Amino acid sequence: MIIALNASPRTDWNTATLLGKALEGAQSAGAQTALVHLYSLKPFYGCVSCFACKRKGGNLGHCAMHDELTPLLDDIREADGLILGSPIYWWDVTAAMRAFLERLLFSNMLYNRDRRWVFPKTMPAALIYTWGAEWGRVEPKLSRFKETEDNLGEMLGMPVRTLHSFDALQFDDYSKYEADKIDVAAKTRHREEVFPQDCAKAFDLGAAIAAASK
Ligand SMILES: Cc1cc2nc3c(=O)[nH]c(=O)nc-3n(C[C@H](O)[C@H](O)[C@H](O)COP(=O)(O)O)c2cc1C
Repeated sequence: MIIALNASPRTDWNTATLLGKALEGAQSAGAQTALVHLYSLKPFYGCVSCFACKRKGGNLGHCAMHDELTPLLDDIREADGLILGSPIYWWDVTAAMRAFLERLLFSNMLYNRDRRWVFPKTMPAALIYTWGAEWGRVEPKLSRFKETEDNLGEMLGMPVRTLHSFDALQFDDYSKYEADKIDVAAKTRHREEVFPQDCAKAFDLGAAIAAASK
């Protein structure tokens, strides 16, 4: 099973569309897939620093918080691949993605010299980011995600693949919103010409994740 997580509160916009294409790609390579919208779960917190996941003789690798993220974290342990999608909010992933990553990464990490991660298997993963800004403002920010991507890749035993879809259409009718600095013609052109290419890249990414999971 390839599990995709949508960390946008919108279930049918840019991030969800790209994740849908990635899952189509995974299916084309023979994988079973599931899509979970993080904002459809009951609101959940990030790590609360209880350290139960690191207790000697305890349930290493398991987050002790119990909420609607719990079964999802369990399912991820059983999955064959993971595709995470997040919009960029204030130059970071959304609060839901951040909370999810805090819980997933921290519960699987030990402060030991010889064994840093307790995640039970190797698994391919991808991160799809959607940005409202154009490439010139996106590119200088990319390095801030590297450490999290590296940690996730280390935990899963293989490097994480990434896709950045920028200059996203944010709403359907710009004339209805206070947004006169946006060049609507350029935005619309980008949507028509570049976003379909991003969808094709997402499809290929999903197929690659499925292939790497075999
Ligand atoms: C609260 C909020 C903050 C945002 N901050 C940024 C930002 O810092 N940089 C950026 O490029 N886009 C930003 N955006 C735009 C979104 O990243 C972009 O529209 C994204 O595609 C939304 O994903 P969705 O269509 O799947 O909901 C922001 C949007 C919102 C709602």
